[in-house]
Amino acid sequence: PFINALIVAAGRGERMGGGLPKQYRLLGGKAVLRHAVEAFVDHPRVDRVAVAIAKGHEELADQALAGLDVTIALGGSQRSDSVRNGLSALRPGVVLVHDAARPFCPPRVIDRLLQAVSNSDCAVPVLPAADTLARGGEWLEAPVDRAGLVRVQTPQACHTNKLMDAFSRASGSTTDESTLMLAAGFSVATVEGDPMLDKLTLPSDWDRAEAHAAVGLV
Ligand code: CTP
Ligand code: MG
Repeated sequence: PFINALIVAAGRGERMGGGLPKQYRLLGGKAVLRHAVEAFVDHPRVDRVAVAIAKGHEELADQALAGLDVTIALGGSQRSDSVRNGLSALRPGVVLVHDAARPFCPPRVIDRLLQAVSNSDCAVPVLPAADTLARGGEWLEAPVDRAGLVRVQTPQACHTNKLMDAFSRASGSTTDESTLMLAAGFSVATVEGDPMLDKLTLPSDWDRAEAHAAVGLV
């Protein structure tokens, strides 16, 4: 099939803070968004890369993506709106939807996803949840049973026609494609994720990513 990548980069990065939205900040001299996009541009099996950006971020995106062969689409107010808008920039086949806020995507994860989506509706990278998990505010509640619980990362691979079908039947916004696909009755396969794919959400995540960049992991 034709392999598309759709990088969603239309967020505001409010939890990260720090002025410039996180996807445009430099990590090891390169914008986070550019790191994220290059993983797909450089992958031999990916045929087209589209990037959803926020209105008003056009110049930031041009600068971050200078010289890369990508299609720009406008994002929306929620992540799921950005994905929905970005779909129009794709060709029928498979799409790898990926967060710009996950700058280090190992090529082998893309390989695993493409393998798994060849006999499923959707495939996602997961890692076991290592810490104790519980509801908590000021006071902690009893932990939930961690056995079998996983953390779901991106990229998430879907057949484009099935993802469009899932969107056409969706009510409200979902946080990721696997949730949307499951709600529409599709099957979601899992492959092994990678700690390098953890999302940059909070300022402490930035420190971790800079440490990776500093020791030459990126
Ligand atoms: N995203 C998007 N369009 C939106 C919201 C989010 O394309 N309307 C993208 C972000 O740019 C990011 C990914 O979805 O690459 C994951 O979202 P998140 O980590 O929540 O990023 P932000 O929404 O930017 O951050 P925050 O929620 O802290 O404001
Ligand atoms: Mg957000």
